[in-house]
Parts: sequence; C-alpha cells; structure tokens
Amino acid sequence: MTRPALPEHGVSWGRLKPQMESLAEGDFDWRAGRLALYVFDAGDEVRAVVKDAYAMFMTENGLGPAAFPSLRRMEDDVVGFGLSLLGAPEGACGDMTSGGTESILMAVKTCRDYWRAKDEAKRTEIVVPQSVHPAFNKAAEYLGLTVKRVPVAGDFTADVNAMAAAVGEHTMMVVASAPCFPYGVIDDIEGLSRLAIDRDIWLHVDACVGGYFAPFARMNGVNLSPFDFALPVCGRCPPTCTNTATRPKAHPRCFTDPLRCASIKFSALAIGPPAIWSRPPWRAQDPAAPSQRPGR
Ligand SMILES: Cc1ncc(COP(=O)(O)O)c(C=O)c1O
Repeated sequence: MTRPALPEHGVSWGRLKPQMESLAEGDFDWRAGRLALYVFDAGDEVRAVVKDAYAMFMTENGLGPAAFPSLRRMEDDVVGFGLSLLGAPEGACGDMTSGGTESILMAVKTCRDYWRAKDEAKRTEIVVPQSVHPAFNKAAEYLGLTVKRVPVAGDFTADVNAMAAAVGEHTMMVVASAPCFPYGVIDDIEGLSRLAIDRDIWLHVDACVGGYFAPFARMNGVNLSPFDFALPVCGRCPPTCTNTATRPKAHPRCFTDPLRCASIKFSALAIGPPAIWSRPPWRAQDPAAPSQRPGR
C-alpha cells in the first residue's frame, strides 16, 4: 500500500463531508443492530444530547481546570455521581479517564505505588481470574509487574479457592469483574473481598460494564450480591473499582483511600493518588493532572 501524502490543497467541507460519508459505507450498520460489540448506544434521543453536549466543549481543554472551571465542575459531578452510585464512603475519590484500559492502568499503578511506599516493593504480582480483561496484562507490562491468571469455576465465575491458592507473598492485588467481558457474569466478589481481607492485599473490581448498570438493576429489584464499596474494607487495603459511563470515551475510576485523599496536597487539587508521579522542574504550567492524560 502506498503511503498517502498530505494533499497539496485543502478541500471544502462541502466536498469532504460526502467523502467521509462514503468511507463509512463499508462499516457495520450498528444503527440497525448489526453489531454486538464496540458501540454502546442508548438511542436517538440520548445520542443527540451527547453530540450537542460534546460539541459545546470539544475545544476546551481539561489540562487547564483554572481556565475552564466548567470542565472541572462537570468532571467532579460525574465522579461524584459514580461514587454515590457505588456506595463509596466519605473520603473516597476518583478521576476521569479515557476508558477501561486507562482506569485499570491507573488503579494498578496506585496499588503498586502503595506497596512501594510501604517498603514492600517485592509485591509485584496481580492474581486474576482467567476471564478478566487483558488490560490487566497491559498495565502489568507497562509497570514492570506480572499477572497470574487462574482458571475460572464451572459457572465461569472466579474460582475463589483456586485464587486463594495462587496468592503468595508477592501478590499485591486480586481482581474481580462485575461482570467480565467474555461471559457476562459477575464474580463472587464477596468471596474475593474476604480473600483480600484475610491476606491483607488489595481488591480491584473491574466494573467497566456493570458500574453504571448494576446499581440501576438493583434499584429495579434485581437481587445482586454486593459488588461495590458496600463491601467491607480491610485495615490498610482499599477496594478499588472502575466503571464506565456513556461515551464520548471518558469515565471515572473510583477508589477508596481515605487517608491519602484526605491529605491537603490531594484534596486541594481535587485529584487522587494516581496523580502522584515525580514531576521534573519545568518552566511551563504544573503538569500535575489526574490520570494519565492531562490534556483532554
Ligand atoms: C470488563 C471490561 N474491562 C475493561 C475493558 C476495557 O475498556 P476500554 O476498551 O474502554 O479500554 C472492557 C471493555 O470492553 C471491559 O468489558
């Protein structure tokens, strides 16, 4: 394939738009229900609101919350809504991210840094059911960690006993899904929470799919076991949780960590532990920002 060169001359939107429309002719027709993946559509009305709202603020940049308090306010609202839907206690906090993968990356980084700060840098292993999203392997690869994938039980949920047997002195975190992507089932999160408490390690609940769905299912009478911050917390290890809202792609990653979030350094910036990174001296604006993407 020849590499396309930047055209010498621009074209008008009148010519460009039909070109883009014809490019879309080869795409799956998700509007007609021809696609089970990738597009999370809530119908014409919601789509119109999302488009309008996105267009209103697509030029402003979250890198500058002081310049754009509107963006800060909306992010705070979304994070706050997520925290209350998930029953988070006082002192819990969260960030906006670009999606599930970034949320998982930041949660794993927060956990890794937690153990390093405790002088337990030997904890470099994450124990997960076979069914968890590959983003945990990506995070581990980026952060110099390893993942132990444990076969699931006969009903496709996490096998808590097998995971308990896999946890060792290097384990920093166990993971559960609510629900997992391949089978759509919610793991025995109470069981994994007990395991995390017994072994004094972190529990991360990947609720990328269920975080904004399961709370409403419960409100509508579906009998769901606790999967969120209602779970008991062990002495030093907070449960963490990811969840996803309607796109354009951005969603909060929530975690409880009352001690650090209450520290003035972070509560003043309204950001959470993942923003802890060694910022070099730099003459432009302070690059402190929640999550991995300052500009958004
Ligand atoms: C359970 C679960 N975790 C993580 C992810 C990754 O999310 P993203 O594709 O937004 O990075 C997905 C994506 O479908 C998912 O279903």
